[in-house]
This record gives sequence, C-alpha cells and structure tokens, in this order.
Amino acid sequence: MREIAPGAVHVPGWLTLDEQRHLVQECREWARGPVPMRHTVLPSGGVMSVQTVCLGWHWRPYAYTRVAHDVNGRQVAAFPGWLADLGRRALADAYGRDVPYEPDTALINFYDGQAKMGMHQDKDERSDAPVVSLSIGDTCLFRFGNTETRGRPYTDVRLASGDLFVFGGPSRFAYHGVPKVYPGTGDPATGLTSGRLNLTLRVTGLR
Ligand code: SIN
Ligand code: MN
Repeated sequence: MREIAPGAVHVPGWLTLDEQRHLVQECREWARGPVPMRHTVLPSGGVMSVQTVCLGWHWRPYAYTRVAHDVNGRQVAAFPGWLADLGRRALADAYGRDVPYEPDTALINFYDGQAKMGMHQDKDERSDAPVVSLSIGDTCLFRFGNTETRGRPYTDVRLASGDLFVFGGPSRFAYHGVPKVYPGTGDPATGLTSGRLNLTLRVTGLR
C-alpha cells in the first residue's frame, strides 16, 4: 500500500484471482447491454480510444443520465448491491477505517493495446465522495497529478491486475490519465486474454 498523494492510495494485488475472474465475467455481460460497450464520441467529434459501458447512470461528456441518448436510448443496467459492498471494502482497506460510501455508478473501460486516456478530472459528479478504481488484465502506466493543471507535478504508477486505487479527500479532483498499456502483461487466468479493464465506482450525487 502506498499513499501517492493525500487521499490517493494505491493497494497492489487487492482483488483475488477469483474476484478478478468474477468481475471479468460480469463485465462481459454488462458489455452486451442493454446499452452495449462502445467508444464514446466527444462533443469535439473525436472518439475515445477506450470502450466504455456504465452501470446505474450513463456517463457521456459531460453529464450523467439514466438513458443513453447518445447510444441506443436504453436505460443502463442497474448498479448491483454487491459492487457497492466491494467499494466499501475497498475504501476501508485503503483508508484503514470504515467510511460511509454509497456508489451509484460504475464506468467500465476496456483498453486494447493502443488505447489511452488523456489527463482529466472526474468532475461530472455532484459529490466529493472518493472514486474507487479496480484494474484487471494488462498493466498500465497510470499518471496521477495535481488538482490545478494537467501537467507536473504528477506521479507515475503502474497499475497491474488486481490493483486498487482510491482517490478522495484533497485528491478527489486531481488530474489523472493512462498514457500507456503494456500488452501481454496480464494473467489469462483472469479470463481476460488481452487488454485492460478498469472499473471506477463513483457517487453521482444525482437522483
Ligand atoms: C478513468 O480515469 O476514468 C480511468 C482510469 C483508469 O483506467 O485507470
Ligand atoms: Mn477519470
């Protein structure tokens, strides 16, 4: 366990192999729909290189809605109670104390060997509750920066399969991104033979 910045904690190998396998199976189901996993189109017309599917609330830049107007007009799959329990357990382990936490959305991103994510803040939520991030599959370079600018200072962390990363408190609105995925570094025993899955659990603050 390592505190990268105040409120930002990296816990390597947090998920067991069984938990990773289970999450991979669930993600495969969620990727099929009701709103299928797809490359999000940005307002600029650009297309994100990651593929995304959401639970609870549908995210698109820069809003959450119940219905995926930009995909197929369907309501996204429900956010399951067991995933909220996992989020609470993650926070308790990362922060060393129980924290009240009621996540109501998950963004699930799939990175192939070329996908990346530019430096950004998670700020479409109307809540400052922590973000819980779980990684499965290929290792990536995760860049965790500051709350003021996209640039330095930042810390580069390798997120491997099973790793937990939490950012809350003074780090909740820090810029972060994924400059690189390292193909072939994941363990196929997770059920993911290539690429990287990342799940972020969040509190939207919406109702
Ligand atoms: C994100 O910033 O939403 C995803 C981060 C990651 O893939 O680790
Ligand atoms: Mn983010």
